[in-house]
Amino acid sequence: MDNCAGRVTMAGITHQDAGAIVTSKHLDSLRFSVAPMMDWSDRHCRVLHRTLSRHALLYTEMVTTGAIIHGDRQRLLGFDDVEHPVAVQLGGSDPQALAECARICEAFGYDEINLNCGCPSDRVQNGAFGACLMREPRLVGDCVAAMKAAVKIPVTVKCRIGVDDQEPREALWALTQSVVEAGVDGLIVHARKAWLQGLSPKENRDVPPLDYDVVHALKRDYPTLPIALNGGLQSIEAALPHLDTLDGLMFGRVAYQNPDMLVSVDPLVFGQPAPVANSFEAVEAYIPYLEARLAEGVRLHDMTRHMLGLFTGLPGARAWRRTLATKAVVRGAGVEVVREALGMVAQGARAEEPAQV
Ligand SMILES: Cc1cc2nc3c(=O)[nH]c(=O)nc-3n(C[C@H](O)[C@H](O)[C@H](O)COP(=O)(O)O)c2cc1C
Repeated sequence: MDNCAGRVTMAGITHQDAGAIVTSKHLDSLRFSVAPMMDWSDRHCRVLHRTLSRHALLYTEMVTTGAIIHGDRQRLLGFDDVEHPVAVQLGGSDPQALAECARICEAFGYDEINLNCGCPSDRVQNGAFGACLMREPRLVGDCVAAMKAAVKIPVTVKCRIGVDDQEPREALWALTQSVVEAGVDGLIVHARKAWLQGLSPKENRDVPPLDYDVVHALKRDYPTLPIALNGGLQSIEAALPHLDTLDGLMFGRVAYQNPDMLVSVDPLVFGQPAPVANSFEAVEAYIPYLEARLAEGVRLHDMTRHMLGLFTGLPGARAWRRTLATKAVVRGAGVEVVREALGMVAQGARAEEPAQV
């Protein structure tokens, strides 16, 4: 294992700063992103999110190098043009395999390649990538260098602040220094450790305490490296002050479970008008996409499952969810189910009333 002791850069000690060549347009889109989420941030989900924000950067689920090299690339990597800006997240730790996959993803049209150094699942640990790479800063630097040499689009890293008993101000700084030397274009920090023994991946998103200060301290030491903050952000309004010093906010679960919040992204984060006035308009805007995919044989539920969190808190939200959950799963279901569910929310859903008695 490489603990990189000799290369750790602590606060106050000079270091080689970011050689970031990220374009200002892409840097701008880093200001707000929706996180990579396995089984959640698939292409249908991303198109839905795109109806609510033109500018948010959307991440794919993690795709492993093995899957890309040996698998069905169109199925794994295909995406819709409307998704731009869209970043693909790679899982792997072999520099040459990552370089090859980065080239493939660039040819698919992705706007950014991101390397996963934060996922703690057993499957990932066995493959020696994801969060275990926090222990391998030199290898991560080699991976970034190989990908940078292979593609022209930005290459970023998503990491934790450390794993297990690592000291964040050593582990995170060592990783950062290594990837900066390799020419990384940005870093997204999930501001908590991953505990690799004894916690499930889900627990690893909640139990290790958040430490935003350490991310701000990192930015002070690497002022020209674009750094985005992730982990536990609950609302755009509350998170905006982080942008006074940091370069981006990444939202995961809140954006997925309550996608309505994304309609505020363009006005609040990018100073641009929202593409739709509300989630009703977003659903209307999404319907042509649903129709096009249905015609290709995609099942309605595979798309509507990402819509269940819309309208959360509104009267009728329960009827919305119930209608989609029960009727969209039926074989042959079409967009009429979505229109029916939408009608229920629009009426303020009398269907909600019995549950409140
Ligand atoms: C269902 C689910 C799947 C996830 N899959 C990935 C993944 O593939 N790659 C990754 O880097 N992080 C993954 N994450 C972690 C998120 O990207 C994010 O770092 C984490 O949820 C913390 O952000 P949040 O508090 O805003 O949700 C996943 C999270 C969830 C909830």
